[in-house]
Amino acid sequence: MANERISVVQGDITLERVDAIVNAANSSLLGGGGVDGAIHRAAGPKLLTECRRIGGCDTGEAVVTGGYRLPAKWVIHTVGPVWHGGGLGEAELLTNCYRNALRLAVENGARTVAFPSISTGAYRYPVDEASRIAIRTVSEFLSVDDTIEEVRFVCFDTHTYSAYQRALEEHLGTQGLPRNSASP
Ligand code: APR
Repeated sequence: MANERISVVQGDITLERVDAIVNAANSSLLGGGGVDGAIHRAAGPKLLTECRRIGGCDTGEAVVTGGYRLPAKWVIHTVGPVWHGGGLGEAELLTNCYRNALRLAVENGARTVAFPSISTGAYRYPVDEASRIAIRTVSEFLSVDDTIEEVRFVCFDTHTYSAYQRALEEHLGTQGLPRNSASP
């Protein structure tokens, strides 16, 4: 079941022992604050060197690099949309971030993937809407892919954690599934 492969935790994504962690980057790929800064600090300078070679990434797109000093083997960098009120295609661009990141994970053989809450920090995307998009997009991807074993949403603060938990519960409710349903 796709939904049993989705988990929501609170923590620091740089510590996650998964095959690939996703970075909420900016289009330059040259690092920044937030989770981008944390990932570059933990990975070390070789990450920036590889990012420089790639040269950039458009909003909604994703690129993959090594994980260097991180426990994760890969970092998948994606650029979320800046929130401008919802009328400039933000929802579709955020959907593309999750879809393209998972596509790259599958292409590189990653079985376990951790996401931060893309765009809900500096890019100001409302977390209630962003979390619904994230959960729905990942669930839809997993419903047609059986190579990914787990997608983990790693939330840095309790407000974000609660939003993703709520979004997951709501999503399972629409599927008529209680949270810890035994698979038939
Ligand atoms: N682990 C997990 N999540 C984290 C971590 C961490 N170590 N550090 C921050 N976060 C969370 C934030 O609390 C927020 O919930 O990541 C989420 C995304 O926030 P940002 O990192 O600000 O990312 P975003 O809103 O997508 O803005 C991207 O900010 O850091 C710059 O270079 C980045 O320009 C880009 C912009």
